[in-house]
Amino acid sequence: MLFQRVKPLDKILETAEKKALTRQLGAFQLTLLGIGAIIGTGIFVLTAEAGQKAGPAMMLAFVIAAVVCALAALAYSELASMVPVAGSAYTYTYAVMGEAIAWTVGWALVLEYAVAAGAVAVGWSGYMNGLLSSAGIELPMALKTGPMDGGAFNLLAFTISLVITGLLVLGTSKSAKVNAVLVLIKVVALTAFVIIAVPAAKDSNFQPFFPTGWGSPLGGIGVLGAAASIFFAYVGFDAVSTAAEETKNPNRNIPIGLIGSLLVCTVFYMLVGYGAVGAIGSQPMLDAAGVAFHPGTPQMAAACAGSDALVCSKEPLAHVLKVMGFAGWGNAIGLAAALALPSVVLMMIYGQTRIFFTMSRDGLLPEVLSRVHPKFRTPHVVTMVTGVFVALFAAMFPVGILADISNSGTLFAFMAVSLGVLILRKREPNRHRPFRTPMAWVVCPLAIAGCLLLFLNLSIYTIGLFFGWAVIGLIVYALYGYRHSDLARGITGPEGGNTMDAEPKFHEGPQA
Ligand code: ALA
Repeated sequence: MLFQRVKPLDKILETAEKKALTRQLGAFQLTLLGIGAIIGTGIFVLTAEAGQKAGPAMMLAFVIAAVVCALAALAYSELASMVPVAGSAYTYTYAVMGEAIAWTVGWALVLEYAVAAGAVAVGWSGYMNGLLSSAGIELPMALKTGPMDGGAFNLLAFTISLVITGLLVLGTSKSAKVNAVLVLIKVVALTAFVIIAVPAAKDSNFQPFFPTGWGSPLGGIGVLGAAASIFFAYVGFDAVSTAAEETKNPNRNIPIGLIGSLLVCTVFYMLVGYGAVGAIGSQPMLDAAGVAFHPGTPQMAAACAGSDALVCSKEPLAHVLKVMGFAGWGNAIGLAAALALPSVVLMMIYGQTRIFFTMSRDGLLPEVLSRVHPKFRTPHVVTMVTGVFVALFAAMFPVGILADISNSGTLFAFMAVSLGVLILRKREPNRHRPFRTPMAWVVCPLAIAGCLLLFLNLSIYTIGLFFGWAVIGLIVYALYGYRHSDLARGITGPEGGNTMDAEPKFHEGPQA
């Protein structure tokens, strides 16, 4: 039976022990890793989308998304600390709910990681175009954005995705220090923004506070619609758990890294959201009937032509400061985003390759994907395949659409993980849990409910795409993984197939 194809937890742990990647990341480095992965396009770019969906009430959207993420992070931490191996949500579900669901989660994680990488690349291109403009270099509109956003092919987003893929193929060793520097740049940039924008906040900019209301299921607009989008700004904390195999004392350090990085980011986001709205306002663009346009649509692009509203900006934080008369600071923030966002793209592509790698190692994807380059010791095949797809998404789609699609996959994975925690509590109550989700029977159901609420408030198109992707995934599974997986062929342990010797040496972690 399909649901009985479970990869035994003990086997997974045994595999992890034997593979023995160098364990060198501590709690502080992990927190930095988390902040490095979390702060990115979400706060730097999607603030404009959130404003379009909810107006000033986007600040509530930041809170709602943070609460849902905190709940999911608490659930994540229990499984991440129990099963400290690569593959994240996919591996946990394999152990707890069996192969078919694990496959579905792994397939959904493609949205979380690969599509997110595309979204961040597009976000980066917005800031880069702004910087180039300030320097008097103007790319033709056709090359600035994808076709849905008033252009034709987003050249910069395409290029950065390929450059980062190249870096990943060459290997990313000795990069923890670079990550620390980039985290510092982002934190300093956001702090400068807060210091300039918050004192300039005016009451009038918060009126009307709820121009689009709370929103309705499948509507993708309103406060809940904005929360479903801005959720993207918090995604990435789970990337900490993928570094579990490279972490010293993962049982203690992983939960600290996950929750610590989330907390720091939440505080920043609240302040930045308040500053952006307060300084220049964030009223949505409305059609003739008074309904807010969906961000990332040609109608929105047309309504925004020539407007300097926050919700129209592709570099909103820099834009706020420029409108306030601090052009120099605006450019400095733009520069910080331009320097720091590529590392988020790198984290996301890296996360994707790790998951594909593990799925291939389990026999659910072709073996070629877990080949390791003889010289660079990186999984070059899977990295290049992933990178080309990311570059194409990034060239063709608007940031908000990619972020929403990515969120659909992430929310699904978080629901599966939260459910997995409860199933495992029932099934193996006595197993050692280095980190226990506090009040799991309250927290996990709330995490599931919160993720479901956000999922349902994505637009109907996004949800449709999610299910379309899931159906394709199930067909691929039926045609390939169902027959080829190690478990299907009766190989259950580390001695099976390419489990042990193809492990790439990603010692220093995924930071750029
Ligand atoms: N949280 C990451 C970002 O906002 C994905 O870019």
